[in-house]
Amino acid sequence: MAEAHAAPNAELLEWPKKDKRRFLHVVYRVGDLDRTIKFYTECFGMKLLRKRDIPEEKYSNAFLGFGSEETNFVVELTYNYGVSSYDIGTGFGHFAIATPDVYKLVEDIRAKGGVVTREPGPVKGGQSVIAFVKDPDGYVFELIQRGPTPEPLCQVMLRVGDLDRSIKFYEQALGMRVVKKVDKPEYKYTLAMLGYAEEHETTVLELTYNYGLTEYTKGNAYAQIAIGTDDVYKSAEVVNLVTQELGGKITRQPGPIPGLNTKITSFLDPDGWKTVLVDNEDFLKELHKE
Ligand code: CO
Repeated sequence: MAEAHAAPNAELLEWPKKDKRRFLHVVYRVGDLDRTIKFYTECFGMKLLRKRDIPEEKYSNAFLGFGSEETNFVVELTYNYGVSSYDIGTGFGHFAIATPDVYKLVEDIRAKGGVVTREPGPVKGGQSVIAFVKDPDGYVFELIQRGPTPEPLCQVMLRVGDLDRSIKFYEQALGMRVVKKVDKPEYKYTLAMLGYAEEHETTVLELTYNYGLTEYTKGNAYAQIAIGTDDVYKSAEVVNLVTQELGGKITRQPGPIPGLNTKITSFLDPDGWKTVLVDNEDFLKELHKE
């Protein structure tokens, strides 16, 4: 009676696709909060959305983005008291910002002292105009020429050791779909864009596989992506099932965070990249409290 046992799991595995999922924020550490806030607001045109200081835990957070946290993906910066620099590692790739005029943005960034690591121009063998710049901590930002978009903070790029395994993981555990896949044998890489809508409409997770490279260092700078869900408990059950087949593991069982009462669950993907699922309703309550 194998089918009788398979059925409940099959139904559970449908949940991530039915759930109300959305990219909420990406969390990473910086060595000087004010320096980064100044850079992102002046060079990228982000807005400082909120800031909180937790002296008893010796850290501060700042949230910045191109729109409200209720609708947009934002960055959550963490400053740990007394820590002025971090190791970004080799696995983290970049964040990306879509802008109608990359040439103009790069000019502005350079004028304000930003480091341009790739001059604006079309991608090799393609049409789209891009550039790369570095923020004060060394995080790379890709600038992508694109018409007006509801979500200018449009990518988080991470390197993975087995792209097919990762695609399966993000499809099954997180309900994402592949919105684009590109193989570039001449440059020895393959990439996949995964998300909940098309690239120009929302943030996507860009996963890159470099031929023959299966291991990267994680460093201690980049932390995690937070994604909204209507049910952290059911979502964690699915993640638990998927990790049994594909690897990765739950690092925080679903439940409310003490003191904050926001329900979350967190886990690692097969490469060790962390995702936090946050209860949608609790998240909105948290925003309105502040
Ligand atoms: Co990219």
